[in-house]
Amino acid sequence: MSEVKKIAVIAGDGIGPEVVGEALKVMKKTEELFGYQFEFEHGLFGGIAIDEKGTPLPQETLEICKNADAVLLGAVGGPKWDNNSKELRPETGLLGIRKALGLFSNIRPANVFDCLKEASTLKPEVLEGTDLIVVRELTGGIYFGEKFRREGANGEEAVDTCVYNVQEVERIVRQAFEIAMTRSKRLASVDKANVLETSRLWREVVNRIAPEYPEVELEHVLVDNCAMQLLRRPSSFDVIVTENMFGDILSDEAAMLTGSIGMLSSASLGEGSFGLYEPVHGSAPDIAGQGISNPIATILSVALMFRLTFGYHEAAQVIEDAVKNVLDAGHRTGDIAVDKSTAIGTTAMGDLIVAAMTK
Ligand code: IPM
Ligand code: MG
Repeated sequence: MSEVKKIAVIAGDGIGPEVVGEALKVMKKTEELFGYQFEFEHGLFGGIAIDEKGTPLPQETLEICKNADAVLLGAVGGPKWDNNSKELRPETGLLGIRKALGLFSNIRPANVFDCLKEASTLKPEVLEGTDLIVVRELTGGIYFGEKFRREGANGEEAVDTCVYNVQEVERIVRQAFEIAMTRSKRLASVDKANVLETSRLWREVVNRIAPEYPEVELEHVLVDNCAMQLLRRPSSFDVIVTENMFGDILSDEAAMLTGSIGMLSSASLGEGSFGLYEPVHGSAPDIAGQGISNPIATILSVALMFRLTFGYHEAAQVIEDAVKNVLDAGHRTGDIAVDKSTAIGTTAMGDLIVAAMTK
């Protein structure tokens, strides 16, 4: 028997609880197959926490996360809270939890399943061989800089500041180089160094660290060009490292290469093995509660958790293979089905994946 791993489960809003439910079934199946032991502790987060506790990130939820070995997060947000003040927005909880848990690195893999190429809006031949990872800085930049309103010469103005210090850039860039070393050793550092001072600092730091990794082929790509190249030659990218807001935008773009954002997992990491794992997609309030959402991104987030936090590589492979086999057999949720009339629901997809999991 392996030691008990504590998992904080924060399902959140919209389709969050549905997709997390399927991911938990997958985790329980690995207890059966591999003798793992998980202890799940559930916490309120996001809109539901605003409704029930008056804050998107209640202290007790943060404590549950801090006491856990890993966090499994569903999704937060919805129209109900869209007009709330900043403190009472679900997104504020998300930014708060990243900062409070020191999760400065956000890893978003985008690989194209061969059998889903037809679900992408891009031509299959452009997608051929696409397998990349966006490493996004997550606790700095314009997201966390000072924000305020003021009276300017021409009336009201709004200010968002973008700040990065050397240490913040160093730690994310090092992590990206390390990840590149485990893959095909190509790193694209994305910035806007032709305009932004923070980007010029970013580039200096990357160039200073690069000699420590002589095997890694490094390119600097301006963010606007990267947005274009992702559509033109996605398979030429391996690891992309970039600052917070560029990473937010580029990871959504990269996600769509795969056909559906419903397929993509993500990990948010700090210095140690602790991590927060969540699907890249949001709470999808338009389809919440209908049992039609795609649980694969959350299930693949569990595989990522197994690899990055627990080192359970064999089980991670079992999960990833099960997903592939179920897709190869032609099963699709609505978001990835070409013929929507054949689409299956969330629970059916989860059950098929669990049934396909074998050692
Ligand atoms: C993401 C989301 C969040 C972000 C929002 C909901 C605050 O878009 O995780 O990519 O911008 O980081
Ligand atoms: Mg985003």
